[in-house]
Formats: sequence, C-alpha cells, structure tokens
Amino acid sequence: MRDDVDAVILVGGLGTRLRPLTLSAPKPMLPTAGVPFLTHLISRIRSAGIRHVVLGTSFRAEVFEDHFGDGAALDVDLEYVVETEPLGTGGGIRNVADRLRGDTQLVFNGDNLIGVDYAQLLETHRSADADVTLCLHRVADARAYGCVPTDADGRVLAFLEKQPEPVTDQINAGLYVFRRSVIDSIPTGRPVSVERETFPDLLAAGSCVMGHLTAGYWRDFGTPADFVAGSADLVRGIAPSPAVAEPGERLLLPGADVASDAVVDEGTTIGHDASVGPRTLVRGSVVFDGARLGADVVVRNSVIGAGAVIGDGTVLDDVVIGDRARIGAGIELRGGARVWPDATLADGSVRFSADL
Ligand code: GTP
Repeated sequence: MRDDVDAVILVGGLGTRLRPLTLSAPKPMLPTAGVPFLTHLISRIRSAGIRHVVLGTSFRAEVFEDHFGDGAALDVDLEYVVETEPLGTGGGIRNVADRLRGDTQLVFNGDNLIGVDYAQLLETHRSADADVTLCLHRVADARAYGCVPTDADGRVLAFLEKQPEPVTDQINAGLYVFRRSVIDSIPTGRPVSVERETFPDLLAAGSCVMGHLTAGYWRDFGTPADFVAGSADLVRGIAPSPAVAEPGERLLLPGADVASDAVVDEGTTIGHDASVGPRTLVRGSVVFDGARLGADVVVRNSVIGAGAVIGDGTVLDDVVIGDRARIGAGIELRGGARVWPDATLADGSVRFSADL
C-alpha cells in the first residue's frame, strides 16, 4: 500500500466542449463502458495500491458525492473539496492542501486516461528528487496541447501552451507528481492555472521539473469524438481499466433490448433499458439509458442521450443527441452536429446540419 502518496483528481471543469452532454452531468460522471468515467480512473489508482483519493470539485459538485460516497465500493478513502468559484487547475490543487497526508501527490486531470505505470512515474520523480514530474505523451499533431521539450536527462526545458508551430511532439498528458511543498506554495484565494502559471514559474525559478515519457494508452475524453472513441476503447479492452470485466465488441447493459438482426459493434455501449430496432446498425457509439432507436437506423461514432428517440431510417454519423431529444424518421445528421436536450426534429426535416 502506498500510504505516502495521495491521489488528487481535478473534476471541477464545466466541460463546455462536451455540451450538451455536460448540461446534465459533469464530464467525469458521464457513463463510459457502463460506469462513470471517474470509476475507471479511481480503479486504476486503487490497483496501484493508492487508497487516499481527494476530488477537487466545483461544477455540479454534489453529483460526485451522491454517486461515490466515501469510496468504500471502490475500496478507496474518498474525500471531496468543493470550490464555490472555480479556481482553475492550480487553484484546485492548492485548495485540497489541508486534506493531504503524504509528501508526494499524484495529480490527475479527471478526463484523461493514461496507461502509464504509476510506480515507474513515481520512481522518475523520486530518483531525480524532483519538485514536479509531468507525465508526457507523443502525438502526431501537438498544436492543441501543452508542448514540453526535455533535455537528455528528461529534465523539462519549457512549458509551452498550444503553439501554432510546436517545438516538440511531447505533450502534457494531464498527470503530474507534486512534492507537497510545491502545492503549499501555489497562491490561494484566486484562480491559478498550472499550465499557464505554476509550471512556467517553477521553470523560471530553476526548480527541478522532470518529464516522464510514456508510450502507453493516452486519451483526453474532452471532445465528443474523443469521448466516443475512448468509450469504445474501454469496451474493447484497448484502454486500460480494472473496471471493465470482460472486454468485447459491444457492451449491452441490463435491460438493453437489441433486435436479432441489428448489428451493434466496434465498442458500442447500449445503456440500461435502451432499445435497438430491426436492421439497425450501431457502430463505435454510446447509447445512454432508455434511448430508443427505430428500424433501419444507422448510428456511427455518435452519442445518443438518455431517453432520446430516433425515428426509422435516420442516419447519425459523428453527432451528439441530447437527452430526451426526439429525432424523426428519415433524417440525416453528420459532421459534429449537436442536438440539444428535449429538441424535436420532425420526420425528414434535416439533412446534414450544424447545431440544433
Ligand atoms: P472544457 O470546458 O471542455 O475545456 O472542459 P473542462 O472544463 O473540463 O476543462 P479542461 O478539460 O481544460 O480541464 C482539465 C481538467 O481539469 C478536467 O478534469 C476538469 O474537470 C479540471 N478542471 C478545470 N478547471 C477546473 C477548476 O476550476 N477547478 C477544478 N477543481 N478542476 C478543474
């Protein structure tokens, strides 16, 4: 057991990129492979032998405690610290300081899943006697991320948020190790961003900031495309999670009713009491609880909100349908369209579309 290490998970963001799904639930609580996303993260933390987990909450704070309580179901000791006004990533970390028990903290963005070995990450931090260690990942296009060049010894040289011409393909993976005293030195009472303020300030002050490059699984679940792809990765066992019992091509939750000639595959989840009609194809998608898909529907890489109703022959490709929306028959929506909760689209009314 790692009693010297606390896990801190930042879950206070508004999740604007995932709207309208995040209007009803905070991003880390969205169902992925049948459980809230956070369950996968906490299960991985627990299986690494860490028991003390502190959630830094703000937006819809009560939803977390209602679901996870004291953490006993996941065999962790779970605490919650609520920000009445969002304090940003650095402010959120500082705000949990009085709950910390160890000298070392693993700090997670609550919307990333990383296949790194936590013991190896902690070892990089310890052996360098670092102030902060950043978990890094290589991507083909680093423009949308924080770029983190390192020297030959793995020491971080700079922290450059979202550059048009990235100087390296190494990006901030959204998982850090902090020395406790560094957390105590973050200013209180105002929003602070670790990415924009804390890390650049530490580097300017000559602190020891290390990078730990990992080649394992990594995904930020923050956009609809990443959310559906990540959920499919979990269902298929590509993304690492002790909370997925039996990986497979599809996950049908209790009460799901799928017609015998329907095709459901590529990591799709069909939620509790949801139904899929005859000859319908659902591929690489997430269908939330109680949604109803008619006959001859095609759904690819999309999220269908809880209780939504999809008419016969409708095609949905790379779209998000809000909770309880009613999509008529013979409609075609593609390319990132989002339908707001409770909206109604009449039969055949739309082909390709922006947000509705
Ligand atoms: P977008 O609005 O879509 O960018 O999502 P987000 O609000 O979650 O922001 P982002 O993805 O950049 O946040 C990274 C992680 O930090 C997520 O797990 C957020 O929940 C968390 N986070 C962001 N801002 C805050 C904050 O002010 N307080 C706390 N406690 N957590 C935060």
